[in-house]
Amino acid sequence: MSLSIALTKGRLEKDAVELLDLCGYGTEKLKNKGRALVFEDTREDFRYFLVKANDCITYVEHGVADCGIVGKDTLMEGGSDYYELLDLKIGKCKFIIAGMKDHNPLTMSGNIRIGSKYPEAAKRYFLSRGLDAEMIRLEGSVELAPVLGLCDGIMDIMETGRTLKENGLVVYDTVCDISARVIVNKASFKIKRQEIMKFLTDMERAVERCSE
Ligand code: PRP
Repeated sequence: MSLSIALTKGRLEKDAVELLDLCGYGTEKLKNKGRALVFEDTREDFRYFLVKANDCITYVEHGVADCGIVGKDTLMEGGSDYYELLDLKIGKCKFIIAGMKDHNPLTMSGNIRIGSKYPEAAKRYFLSRGLDAEMIRLEGSVELAPVLGLCDGIMDIMETGRTLKENGLVVYDTVCDISARVIVNKASFKIKRQEIMKFLTDMERAVERCSE
């Protein structure tokens, strides 16, 4: 049976394709992609889709994709009707809480406003610290928000820390480590178990080879 695999475009794309390469899969079409969004593997009976991170979960939950490769940050924010089965150890970064110097949102009293692309995950984190913070949903350039006074702090992903530094923000806490995961549609895992297990085993070996 064929497998449909949703890949997150952007940051994770290159490293994910490298892992697929290490598995010996035929990724030529993915690497010379132009503006196409669906690609047949040239060696395996696989079809890849390139989608935005949130949509990757949606495609997998609806079973249009059997498997998906998506960041843990996105998984922590939305959806839960899938199996998360493998840590690919690519796209490594951290969820952090940051704010302006001398303005730590975690030690504030009164109303705390937090800007984030991940308001659900941020809300949970603040509640776990006993803080009922107000969430302001942002779509990008999150570091700008505390600088302009839209919020007291942000919860965002930090990779190199450069964006924070260049905007004069400091880290007040590290929430958790983030990396890309393989998620699997629940029904597909029953119906296509053999194919999915082979895909997971191949990917796991590729991850091990990368860390050698
Ligand atoms: C992400 C994140 C930070 C930045 C962190 O944004 O939201 O802004 O990367 O990376 P760094 O620690 O290496 O500087 P992204 O580039 O995905 O764009 P966005 O602001 O449009 O969300």
